[in-house]
Amino acid sequence: MLTILWLPIGISAAVSWSLPRNVCTPSVALVNTSKPTTIVGTGTPASCNQSALSAALVKGGIITFNCVSSVNDTIIDGAGIVTLNGLEKARILNFNRNNFQLSTPKLTVQRLRFINGHCQNANVGQDVAGGAVRTIGGGTTTVNGSVFTGNQCSNGGGLGILGSGLTISNSYFATNQATGNGGNPGNGGNGGALYVDGLGRNVTICGARFTGNQANKFGGAYFRVSYNGSEQNDFENVLVDSNYVSRNVSGLAGGLYIQGGTITIRNSTIANNSADGGGAMFLSNDKLVTLNDVNLLNNTAYTSLGGAFFCSNPVSGSFTGLTIANNYADAFGAAFAFCSTTITLSNSIIANNTVGNTYPANACTSMMNGGPGVVQSPINKQKPATGTDALCTNGTITKSNNVSIILNSTTWIIKGIGAQPVYLGSAIIPGL
Ligand SMILES: *[C@@H]1O[C@H](CO)[C@@H](O)[C@H](O)[C@H]1NC(C)=O
Ligand SMILES: *[C@@H]1O[C@H](CO)[C@@H](O)[C@H](O)[C@H]1NC(C)=O
Ligand SMILES: *[C@@H]1O[C@H](CO)[C@@H](O)[C@H](O)[C@H]1NC(C)=O
Ligand SMILES: *[C@@H]1O[C@H](CO)[C@@H](O)[C@H](O)[C@H]1NC(C)=O
Ligand SMILES: *[C@@H]1O[C@H](CO)[C@@H](O)[C@H](O)[C@H]1NC(C)=O
Ligand SMILES: *[C@@H]1O[C@H](CO)[C@@H](O)[C@H](O)[C@H]1NC(C)=O
Ligand SMILES: *[C@@H]1O[C@H](CO)[C@@H](O)[C@H](O)[C@H]1NC(C)=O
Ligand SMILES: *[C@@H]1O[C@H](CO)[C@@H](O)[C@H](O)[C@H]1NC(C)=O
Ligand SMILES: *[C@@H]1O[C@H](CO)[C@@H](O)[C@H](O)[C@H]1NC(C)=O
Ligand SMILES: *[C@@H]1O[C@H](CO)[C@@H](O)[C@H](O)[C@H]1NC(C)=O
Ligand SMILES: *[C@@H]1O[C@H](CO)[C@@H](O)[C@H](O)[C@H]1NC(C)=O
Ligand SMILES: *[C@@H]1O[C@H](CO)[C@@H](O)[C@H](O)[C@H]1NC(C)=O
Repeated sequence: MLTILWLPIGISAAVSWSLPRNVCTPSVALVNTSKPTTIVGTGTPASCNQSALSAALVKGGIITFNCVSSVNDTIIDGAGIVTLNGLEKARILNFNRNNFQLSTPKLTVQRLRFINGHCQNANVGQDVAGGAVRTIGGGTTTVNGSVFTGNQCSNGGGLGILGSGLTISNSYFATNQATGNGGNPGNGGNGGALYVDGLGRNVTICGARFTGNQANKFGGAYFRVSYNGSEQNDFENVLVDSNYVSRNVSGLAGGLYIQGGTITIRNSTIANNSADGGGAMFLSNDKLVTLNDVNLLNNTAYTSLGGAFFCSNPVSGSFTGLTIANNYADAFGAAFAFCSTTITLSNSIIANNTVGNTYPANACTSMMNGGPGVVQSPINKQKPATGTDALCTNGTITKSNNVSIILNSTTWIIKGIGAQPVYLGSAIIPGL
């Protein structure tokens, strides 16, 4: 094995120097380094140090440097009076750092409205994303006090975030569309409003409303794929209402599609969303899923399983304070499909969830681990089937055939017994 000993050296990129002039016709061309084995540094002088270079040299191959950020952070503030309009012809902002390992520079948009941003029609594909804003690489993209409506792209009608994190506050996303099809792999159609794909990156959303966004394959509002399980999805005070995936495309997740990461959702409502399967949410192989005070109301799986939740592969975590009512699945599992004992469910109401095929289980296809305070209603099977429905947890459940859940379209009013549902109001509207 080759051992390389290096004397301590300093690497400096802060002060530039001039290359020697090209005097003779070179007998060797510069090596093409467009596909480096290792990039030393992450965009700051301090990251280009002895240990980073030594580690790269031990590996060998093509080594390049990224020691200074050539672009400053970019902050765009519309002060609540500026609208950027893509006129259905072009994407509005393209922040492409073209390097997934960078943590700088960062893009921030605040108090801006983005409407009618469209990717070019020829531009379809699985990573073609962001009708209004696309970020590739760099640091966390921040959106505050902003509005995204009527934007379209193959994926992520509103935002396409690849290899970057995302922080959203006090903003709303309406009628954005993911116009590709076939999914991933395929030609996209994922994430009507947001498409996020990046190793080790976090998404934090607080105070946002997603309404009437649409996708052609996965995630009517939100699509997220992860890599090593450390990627976070934090939602707080969020309304996900009336988003959908087109019918009959074997699509999943009318609201949120989240694969392979960690999840926290607090004080939020996910209502009236629809897809062939997983009307509200499709979760796959997510660890540490913590749901607190979440309403899942009137979501629909048109043709398949999971009116509210579809869990694929083990999903583990703790769900508490849920009100899961009036959801519908055409096959079965109107409340929970394949969510198993790796999830603990407590202090929650599961009421009036109904299925097209009344012979298998109505509310739940499998048992979750039973915490206290779970109410399940009705407990009798739907007619024409007879007998008792399968229980949603392996713990003690208050069984009832008569829990009253009242919803109306102007105000969310939820009356139940035994648990404490949250009241969210009709919408969260930033001051724009
Ligand atoms: C370097 O290689 C890449 C593909 O690896 C290629 O796309 C690019 O054109 C090459 N650049 C030059 C200057 O040859
Ligand atoms: C050297 O840079 C790497 C990133 O390239 C960083 O992870 C490491 O902490 C740095 N070490 C020192 C001593 O600054
Ligand atoms: C970044 O901002 C600084 C200070 O405003 C400016 O001097 C510098 O030229 C900017 N960098 C680039 C690449 O434009
Ligand atoms: C968003 O803007 C509000 C003011 O409108 C400010 O109070 C808040 O700190 C900002 N949030 C973020 C995450 O920047
Ligand atoms: C996941 O990847 C990120 C980025 O490379 C790294 O910082 C983190 O430690 C990794 N986490 C795990 C659990 O492997
Ligand atoms: C993501 O969040 C986790 C937990 O808060 C944190 O440890 C990690 O550093 C964050 N990652 C990034 C890239 O900000
Ligand atoms: C829950 O969300 C509603 C609507 O956004 C908000 O008014 C309320 O303050 C939130 N409650 C908590 C405890 O955050
Ligand atoms: C979906 O397929 C079913 C069964 O083939 C058909 O009855 C229905 O019209 C289709 N719906 C849409 C919106 O294509
Ligand atoms: C339930 O959702 C459907 C669409 O899936 C919608 O037409 C209906 O108005 C919703 N009901 C309520 C009470 O919001
Ligand atoms: C039960 O849910 C269905 C929709 O799935 C709805 O039409 C009906 O009004 C609900 N019943 C009650 C009592 O809320
Ligand atoms: C329910 O399932 C969990 C996980 O398998 C197990 O730890 C727990 O003991 C079970 N509870 C009952 C009452 O069977
Ligand atoms: C919904 O409930 C609110 C509060 O009770 C009431 O004022 C409103 O008239 C109801 N709307 C409908 C359509 O029933």
